[in-house]
Amino acid sequence: MSDKHVNQDLEALHEQLKKDHLGPLWSSIHQLNTLEPKPRSVPYLWKWSLIKKRLDQAKELLTVGEEADRRAVFLINPGMADLEPVGWGGATQTLYAAVQAVKPGEIAPAHRHTTSAVRFIIKGHGATGRVNGEKITFEPGDYLITPTLSWHDHANEGDEEVYWMDCLDSPFTLYLSTCFTEFLPGNKKQQDLVVPDDYSSRRYQGGMTRPISDRKPSLAPLGRYKWELTQKGLEGLSDFDPDPFDGYALEYINPSTGKDACDRIGARMQMLPPGFKGKAHRHVHSVIYHVFRGQGYTIINGVRFDWSQGDFLVIPSWAVHEHVNTSDEPAYLFSTNDLPIMEALKFEREEEYQENNGHQEIKDVFQPRV
Ligand SMILES: [Fe+2]
Ligand SMILES: [Fe+2]
Repeated sequence: MSDKHVNQDLEALHEQLKKDHLGPLWSSIHQLNTLEPKPRSVPYLWKWSLIKKRLDQAKELLTVGEEADRRAVFLINPGMADLEPVGWGGATQTLYAAVQAVKPGEIAPAHRHTTSAVRFIIKGHGATGRVNGEKITFEPGDYLITPTLSWHDHANEGDEEVYWMDCLDSPFTLYLSTCFTEFLPGNKKQQDLVVPDDYSSRRYQGGMTRPISDRKPSLAPLGRYKWELTQKGLEGLSDFDPDPFDGYALEYINPSTGKDACDRIGARMQMLPPGFKGKAHRHVHSVIYHVFRGQGYTIINGVRFDWSQGDFLVIPSWAVHEHVNTSDEPAYLFSTNDLPIMEALKFEREEEYQENNGHQEIKDVFQPRV
């Protein structure tokens, strides 16, 4: 048979295979076994001012506990926007992130889900959360966890609006079809309290010591990681040389296991000292950054993303990135990542950028929506 006939017959076979819900590996093998990760999610940056503007609009239209269980605006990665439903709630392929606003007097009703969740308090005083029977105070800079199947509800008992970042492993659980959600019986809004207020963080006031009963590993012996302690940790670290990629960075850990504080979501707080110019690297785990304080930029795959307080930035899997603090004040970056999943599944690897003395050339500047 001539080449022409073979090609036509092969094309016809491909069409037929498609109708039969079958696939030709000979022409698909390189799409399935890629030489390196080809993430669907793309590097992107959301300005705080834009998110705040949209939340303000939602505040006029919705009351928490009435029309809405939660008043939150979530990040949708442009590379995932066409995935149903709702872009899989994906800021990265594994992680969801949102900003939640709670007005004084509002109560966000209790529920629990197999999806794991963490929170970072951005601003405002007076909010509390109930987690597995413990009432927890929320203060700016605090990191809070509700690992898989933890009951949680929130309330604003103060007189100002409170904003926080939520991060869940929703896209991952959606992909695996493993999400279950439950509510309290009888439409009850808040769970009963079974331990004293701020029980877990009061048990851990000393920092690097643990109550003897926590020698036995548990899912969440500590629910709140207070900003004062995180800041102290960074101060101590900053007496020494910074990490060449991340400056001074701490990760939140479960004191009973030494592993990540939340079961499937990693989280860090890092401080880039004034003028810090980090080296470039890439890794399989993806990261969502929230700029807690400061300003600077991150170069991702040759594109400069300028950031300032409140902004959110996404670094997809295997994207080359480097951070720069352009100001004469320290920059504090909170971030969440999917490192616990990548490590558990043996996918994680990391590579330093070798060219140009470890720094990328800036080929473009990202223009955020405002
Ligand atoms: Fe929730
Ligand atoms: Fe990194």
